[in-house]
Amino acid sequence: MDLIKTTQGVCDKVTALRSEGKTIGFVPTMGALHEGHLSLVKQCIADNDVCIVSIFVNPTQFNNKEDLQKYPRNLERDCEYMESAGVGVVFAPSVDEIYPQPDTRQFDFGQIDKVMEGEHRPGHFNGVAQVVSRLFDIVKPDRAYFGEKDFQQLAIIREMVKQLKLNVGIVPMPIVREPGGLALSSRNERLTAAQKEVAVNISRILAESKEWMKNSSVEKVIKEVIAVLDSFAELKVEYYEIVDGYTLQSVADWKDSDYIVGCIAIFCGEVRLIDNIIYKAN
Ligand code: PAJ
Repeated sequence: MDLIKTTQGVCDKVTALRSEGKTIGFVPTMGALHEGHLSLVKQCIADNDVCIVSIFVNPTQFNNKEDLQKYPRNLERDCEYMESAGVGVVFAPSVDEIYPQPDTRQFDFGQIDKVMEGEHRPGHFNGVAQVVSRLFDIVKPDRAYFGEKDFQQLAIIREMVKQLKLNVGIVPMPIVREPGGLALSSRNERLTAAQKEVAVNISRILAESKEWMKNSSVEKVIKEVIAVLDSFAELKVEYYEIVDGYTLQSVADWKDSDYIVGCIAIFCGEVRLIDNIIYKAN
């Protein structure tokens, strides 16, 4: 496995791979890799001749300085993990490599980034689009892999690819969970053992709420999910929204769409977690 830290280094590698006629799959990450990332990597390896993984904690997508500082970093461990998974190239650039000049681009994603994460983390998706478009430009992948855990991010990336007319296939991957149900996340490392025990209630209640939809309105399910989760001492819901899976706009009725998803952001102690549940699959 090659560990490359410069943009030029990756460009040269990609040129060489292309001249050999190799297909390139890409998994962008911020490191602190876990089995959720691994599932994307495995699919990427299965679909493409070479899998490139980027590890870059992107400052432009953090609207909270403390969150950026506290983001877990362990390049050595991540590289060992990726090597044992069969990854061809890890691209781990510095901030200057990705942003030699400040990126001042402003994307307009219409309504999809005005809600949920977009509403609560202003500028977040603009930063995600900046870094992912930059990385796509460097890596020039045939396909790129994104987890459904970040449901809204996936929608933003698809919209970005459409707007910029990029020739990259976006492959969505299902959420990987701990045996107890907690969605794997690099941020879980910051939970205490006691908080982790409480955090399993997030996915448990979301799964249970699929039963409630049979007899309750959308509004009632939202209220109930928030009330039950807020009743746990360490948990505080930031938002729970039930949305159309295509437009990410709130639905008023279960009949409003054939693709309905519930998306949550919730604090467990100081740690902000997100998760989602598909009520109606498309
Ligand atoms: P990061 O949080 O490291 O996630 C990298 C990719 O792994 C994302 O596509 C994310 O959805 C996926 N992922 C994380 N946890 C997962 C889980 N439990 N199951 C399935 N997939 C999971 O998302 C980012 O980084 C950044 O915003 C990035 C796209 C790299 C841009 O900086």
